Amino acid sequence: MADKEIKQIKDLIIEAGKRARQESDFEPEQALTQPVKWPVNCLVGPGLEGAIACESKIGYVNGSKGWLIYRGYDIFDLCAHSTFEEVAYLLLYGALPTVSQFDNFKAKLIKYRDINYTIRLLMGFPIEKMNAMAALRIGTNFMRQELTYVDSDAYSPDFDTAISADEDSIPMETKPRGEEHAIYEFKKASAGNKPRSVDKNLQFSAEEESCYSLISGVSTVAGVVARLRQDRIPIEPDPSLSHAGNLIYVITGRKPTPIEEKIMDIALILHADHGMNASTFATMVVASTLSDMYFAIGSGIAALNGPLHGGANERVVKMLQEIGGPGNVNKWFEEKLAKKEKIMGFGHRVYKAYDPRARVLGPLAEYLVEHSGNEEIKKLFRTAKTLEKKVVSRLGKEKKIFPNVDFYSGIIYLCLGIPMELFTPIFAVSRVSGWTARVREYLKANRIFRPRAVYVGPFDKRYEPIKKRSS
Ligand code: SDX
Repeated sequence: MADKEIKQIKDLIIEAGKRARQESDFEPEQALTQPVKWPVNCLVGPGLEGAIACESKIGYVNGSKGWLIYRGYDIFDLCAHSTFEEVAYLLLYGALPTVSQFDNFKAKLIKYRDINYTIRLLMGFPIEKMNAMAALRIGTNFMRQELTYVDSDAYSPDFDTAISADEDSIPMETKPRGEEHAIYEFKKASAGNKPRSVDKNLQFSAEEESCYSLISGVSTVAGVVARLRQDRIPIEPDPSLSHAGNLIYVITGRKPTPIEEKIMDIALILHADHGMNASTFATMVVASTLSDMYFAIGSGIAALNGPLHGGANERVVKMLQEIGGPGNVNKWFEEKLAKKEKIMGFGHRVYKAYDPRARVLGPLAEYLVEHSGNEEIKKLFRTAKTLEKKVVSRLGKEKKIFPNVDFYSGIIYLCLGIPMELFTPIFAVSRVSGWTARVREYLKANRIFRPRAVYVGPFDKRYEPIKKRSS
């Protein structure tokens, strides 16, 4: 039975990929897929829109055509045939693993699920009163204590080659260093006093082992946050389950069915990487200062929390509940439009076509809803389908506004029994793979991020004693 259902899911994805190709051909954008000769000319808008931050081989988003690539593989291909663990390996190493590489990688991920010291520390905090993303972030700091000794003086990055962050003090006529600028390497720390239970490989905080520990540990912490918020004891991760299956298990306390595990796995693949989005850029900015991977991932979690970025999927469900049913969509939409308010789960800074991830998540949501007996969720899904038609017909052509990755993901998580406050943490559980991969790639030719601001303030001010200042 499960094989038949899994095949049905694969066929849905292959069908979605075919539809995407029918709607738009897939040629890469020249300006965004040729090697860069620094300094590079680009037209930059507010919020660094259009700015080129670096070169990367990790992922490519073709916004005009609605196309998403990880290391050269089309997202529909990976969703139909791969797994999240294999995609995480692909993002980190640039190639799909051999059997032995994959076995070794999966064994490490399973090993790093167990972060008991971090769990014990989290249990001492009022997690149930906290924003789930704030708790997730605290978990990465506790992992940093448990698994590394970056704070000990035995470990210090090599500052000799650091470029001063205060580039304002260098006349901007300085010839940009181009390719010859300083390359940072995290110095191998000499043996110092090691923290509790540190694994010898985890003594460094920016090496590949820290990527594994975070990809795995953030998933365990998400489970701990879920359970503590339900006033329950955290559940020990199950080494026999896949990454996706274990995630459902540690959050809900229930072992998923094969189809639930498969759909969560596909959702994790779809959220793994997405170019220079705000949270990925945040992790890279922090890492570029020679801070460490744990702080970098913590900054990504902070950025992802925002409702304009990762926090939208939770707001989509609340929005659908507020609409109350398909019959209310028209009136609700007109009011929203009149107030020029943004509709959660729609629009995108890069996609001016249908977000390919929504093309997959929509049919998966429909499949789960059809097989779920929950009338409330079925009504939410019908409302979502009606709203999608309305928004695309009114704003698709004119403003290129289409559903994005957050529009259907919340309905899927509801069907899987995931509490709403865990929707965005699950986004982070997946995106840690893209964040760590891009940080590692950037550090190979690091240059501290330091854009400029145009000063538009006054110059001719003179100081006045406070007594002389009028109110
Ligand atoms: C993610 O960057 C990434 O890759 C992010 C992400 C990833 O995987 O990391 O894809 C994940 O963040 C998905 C987006 C989740 N957020 C939401 O669903 C929140 C709702 N969407 C928006 O807030 C908005 O669409 C953004 C923030 C996502 C993008 O906004 P932009 O590119 O800054 O667009 P804008 O604010 O400049 O708007 C341009 C026009 C405006 O109309 P005008 O003033 O020109 O008349 O489009 C309108 C906006 O009002 N518009 C919307 C809209 N989004 C833009 N109108 C209604 N509803 C919307 N959602």
